[in-house]
Amino acid sequence: MVTSVTIPALRSHKVSTGKPPLVMLTAYDAPGARIVDGAGADIILVGDSLAMVVLGYDDTLQVTIEDMMHHTAAVARAKPRALVVGDLPWLSYHLSQEDTVRNAAKLVRAGASAVKLEGGAKRAPMVRAVIDAEIPVMGHLGLTPQSVHALGGFRVQGKEAAAVAALLDDAHALVDAGVFAIVLECVPREVARLVTASLPVPTIGIGAGPDCDGQVLVFHDALGLQDRVAPKFVRRYASGRDDAVTALSAFASDVRSGVFPSDAESYHAGEDLAGVLVDLYGPAPAAGHVPSSPTPTSAGTDVGSGATMLV
Ligand code: KIV
Repeated sequence: MVTSVTIPALRSHKVSTGKPPLVMLTAYDAPGARIVDGAGADIILVGDSLAMVVLGYDDTLQVTIEDMMHHTAAVARAKPRALVVGDLPWLSYHLSQEDTVRNAAKLVRAGASAVKLEGGAKRAPMVRAVIDAEIPVMGHLGLTPQSVHALGGFRVQGKEAAAVAALLDDAHALVDAGVFAIVLECVPREVARLVTASLPVPTIGIGAGPDCDGQVLVFHDALGLQDRVAPKFVRRYASGRDDAVTALSAFASDVRSGVFPSDAESYHAGEDLAGVLVDLYGPAPAAGHVPSSPTPTSAGTDVGSGATMLV
């Protein structure tokens, strides 16, 4: 864990200087941010992967700056210790420098401390403009999902010598423009190692092997919350979807068999009101199919832990 998660501390965070790899995870809402922060991540990325893992789109191109503001604000409300980076979505930094700075500022006003954008040398003027407005920028090279159509699909990048040379040029152009870190997505391990060794700022890999200065995974991938086939670089640390289906099936079963909620999980009228109700409406009718001494079958009996503070 980085002791102080600030941009200057991150900018010089190179594994080659004896520091441990940086830990970055995505989050898209307040409970997710609390979980990621509780796990000790250094950086929370409110990624535009939001489009695919939360909003149900097939690619990231559909997500808007308003979507990103909404979810960045939710993450920021958790007040995490980790640095919050907001992803600039497709077309929010392509039109003009002024438009780019305004969009980056929207994510900062939503609670991000920095923004991320995809692309290399051709995005350098936009990076400079955002940094001139005092907003730190993280770069993103290799597989850049916002270019899915131009790249011909979600494919490993940097597989030929010319592509590696272009990747190195792009990485240096971003560093010259002032980025404090660069995400390297889906490039061969050897290429990621070369880029990492040649840069003064940290690389954060996803599908780029272990030699980067940090690693990032998407929240839903790490927790096994998706049922899609995961790419080979995803390691699942939990079976979140299966566990959730099992738990909620128990709830459905408890409801259908009448054992949820139990009497102990119900509020009761005081004696005075109970008497008044009998006077006004007569004795309460029998409780239908609800067993007289219900016993919950599910694990959860934690009354009041959910939507309300009532106990
Ligand atoms: O949007 C995202 O989640 C990302 C990570 C994969 C780096 O850009």
